[in-house]
Amino acid sequence: MSSVTSVRHGAIAVIQFGEPPVNSLGQQTRVALAAAINAAIDDPAVSGIVITGHNGLFSAGADIREFGTPTMLAAPNLADLIVLVESSPKPIVAAIAGTCLGGGLELSLGCHYRVASTNAKLGLPEVKIGLLPGAGGTQRLPRLIGVEAALNVILGGEPVPAKLFAQTPLLAALVDGDPVPAAVALATDRSAEHAAGKPLPKAREFSAAGPHVEPLLIFARNTVRATYAAYPAPLKCIDAIEAAATKPFDEGLAYERSLFVELMFTPVSKALRHAFFAERAASKIADVPESTPVRDIRAAAVIGAGTMGSGIALTFLSAGIPVVLLETGADALQRGVARIRDVIEGQVKKGRLTVEAATIRGALLKPTLDYADLAEADIIIEAVFEEMSVKRQVFAQLDKVAKRGAILATNTSTLDVDAIAATTSRPADVIGTHFFSPANIMKLLEVVRGRETAKDVLATVMKLAKTLRKTAVVSGVCDGFIGNRMIEQYIRQALFMLDEGASPAEVDAAVEAFGFAMGPFRMSDLAGNDIGWHIRKRRAIERPDVMYSAVADRLCELGRFGQKTGGGWYDYKKGDRNAYPSGVVAELIEKHRSSLGVTARKIEPKEIVDRLVFALVNEAAAILEEGIAQRASDIDIVYLTGYGFPVYRGGPMCYADEVGLYTVVQRMRELSRIHQSDPAFWTPSPLLARLAATGGSFNAAGARS
Ligand code: 3HC
Ligand code: NAI
Repeated sequence: MSSVTSVRHGAIAVIQFGEPPVNSLGQQTRVALAAAINAAIDDPAVSGIVITGHNGLFSAGADIREFGTPTMLAAPNLADLIVLVESSPKPIVAAIAGTCLGGGLELSLGCHYRVASTNAKLGLPEVKIGLLPGAGGTQRLPRLIGVEAALNVILGGEPVPAKLFAQTPLLAALVDGDPVPAAVALATDRSAEHAAGKPLPKAREFSAAGPHVEPLLIFARNTVRATYAAYPAPLKCIDAIEAAATKPFDEGLAYERSLFVELMFTPVSKALRHAFFAERAASKIADVPESTPVRDIRAAAVIGAGTMGSGIALTFLSAGIPVVLLETGADALQRGVARIRDVIEGQVKKGRLTVEAATIRGALLKPTLDYADLAEADIIIEAVFEEMSVKRQVFAQLDKVAKRGAILATNTSTLDVDAIAATTSRPADVIGTHFFSPANIMKLLEVVRGRETAKDVLATVMKLAKTLRKTAVVSGVCDGFIGNRMIEQYIRQALFMLDEGASPAEVDAAVEAFGFAMGPFRMSDLAGNDIGWHIRKRRAIERPDVMYSAVADRLCELGRFGQKTGGGWYDYKKGDRNAYPSGVVAELIEKHRSSLGVTARKIEPKEIVDRLVFALVNEAAAILEEGIAQRASDIDIVYLTGYGFPVYRGGPMCYADEVGLYTVVQRMRELSRIHQSDPAFWTPSPLLARLAATGGSFNAAGARS
């Protein structure tokens, strides 16, 4: 609910605006602010004005939810509001505390003076949502802090501590605590000077020109072209900053506006805005209100000190939470502890951690072979072998030793969390926490909600994820949960394409050119081809009707499990992570094709990408309809944070929506004719078919649904 108040401090009107939680400058706020500013300008008893935000922050900028809607342009738009401020005949001072970003900073740049508190952070993060500052930021900021600093702020997009601008015309004063009293004092002084004939300073009247500008722009363009080839916004930011240095202000402003509108409708900006809201929506659970009480997590335990267990332990240690690490044997425990210590020492060597901080982290780890040591843990995460019998044994033990109220979590990637919970007397305390490898680095955490998982357990783990700096997405129980259930279909298609004529390198190259961090074969080599082999063997028993290419089994029979064995789909050299095409694999694939009686054909990159991405989309539609995922945007977040899906495409569901679901279904129909190994594969999931037929889209209800 927007609110704008105006209070007199002597002859100064202090106008305070608020729009919880971040004082975004939506239409209602803009209308009310303009009215309050006009009233103060018209009031003869007022000689100066201070503008400030409610709740200890200035503003996070324009209301991103309005973008692409008529409300964004409805008068007064942000640019109109800034013109009103800048052309005020009375001095206007921005009093800035806390966050001051995007349109919020641009509003302050329209003011004649700015007073910031030392806790304030200023920035123009528009580039992160595929835009440029569209309310004068690219024109006024370079005029106040210079082109080089403006390039850094605008292209970096990060909030910058106000004190870094203390010596520039951007800030008239920097104060500890509340900036309003200092802003009122400044407005009082300046209004007296102004009454005596001194003109009001306006950013538009400063100059950003200079001989150093051209080389700076060349350097910035080269850097951006090399790093952000897929993103249109950074180059446009540079174009707009160049205009600030080379064109009259109003011309530059009009140019900035045209670039802003152009970027607003690019698929990249739409995707990045989608991702922004999707990430925030993922933490919300329809039937678990944010007010749900959570349990205290002060101490953790991890069972199994293998690849995942040691990574999970590291994650807790980095968050300052003590961890007991339990193994069955001293050797395995020793290996796990050594892995943890190596990572911590590596961080010290790279200068990411001080020796003192590393010592503190190390001291938080307690290795043990004794279940009795788990008695004080508030959460216990199991990361032992992926065998139901082993998991059952572990949970039966946990039931005996864990204190009442402790959360019992499993890191299983495929097994039935409900069946694991049923081995305890407290299934309400059991939950899945599916970390991704390497667990201390990957952002994604799939939180698997069992049939009986208590709401406060779920709320606690979602909160814990934030403490651990993970992006949590809730998944229901099913084989593979959201991410791996989808990737199975993607890998099936990738393997079918080898049978039909593609090479691993061709498949990887096509999907990497689409933007994936890594193609399916490089990814499998990294994760270990034996993992998929293990799953396929299980599938062959559980689902004999599901067709797989046996080519991956032939590879595993050669012991080519990937990087860890020096060879997989590619060859690897010692100390070199590059993947080199393998003659052995080419021969193996050729032999396999002959055994199938297939004549190899050239598969074009577009077909490769469509088959892989639409395989993901079709399975995702089923996941959504079954209620395994709460909302389409959660699936996008899983793929953006856990599977290297290109962020600028917004995730598989956002991409499918952008392509159009009707077009997706039509393409699947074509693919079913090209690829006939498994005719069932390309049958659209009922939800996809329905949405395509009715002109709907997965994310139509919005990521905030
Ligand atoms: N518009 C609309 N909603 C916004 C918003 C914005 N600019 N910024 C934040 N929100 C919403 C979030 O969606 C979230 O909503 P929810 O409670 O319904 O999930 C809520 O505010 C709180 O946000 P966070 O969870 O992100 O809170 P944090 O405290 O972690 O972070 C923040 C606060 C640093 C302000 C962060 O939200 C942020 O970076 N926001 C985006 C800032 C931004 O991009 N500003 C530029 C906007 S574009 C612009 O100004 C165009 C102009 O140049 C014309
Ligand atoms: P791993 O084989 O590297 O480690 C398992 C560890 O558990 C071994 O050190 C073993 O000694 C120990 N262990 C076995 N039984 C035990 C018991 N009864 N008590 C205590 N310790 C025991 O396996 P990894 O890869 O770490 O996987 C662990 C779990 O995490 C599995 O459920 C797996 O499916 C899951 N997972 C694995 C991912 C991966 O990429 N490796 C990713 C996500 C989940």
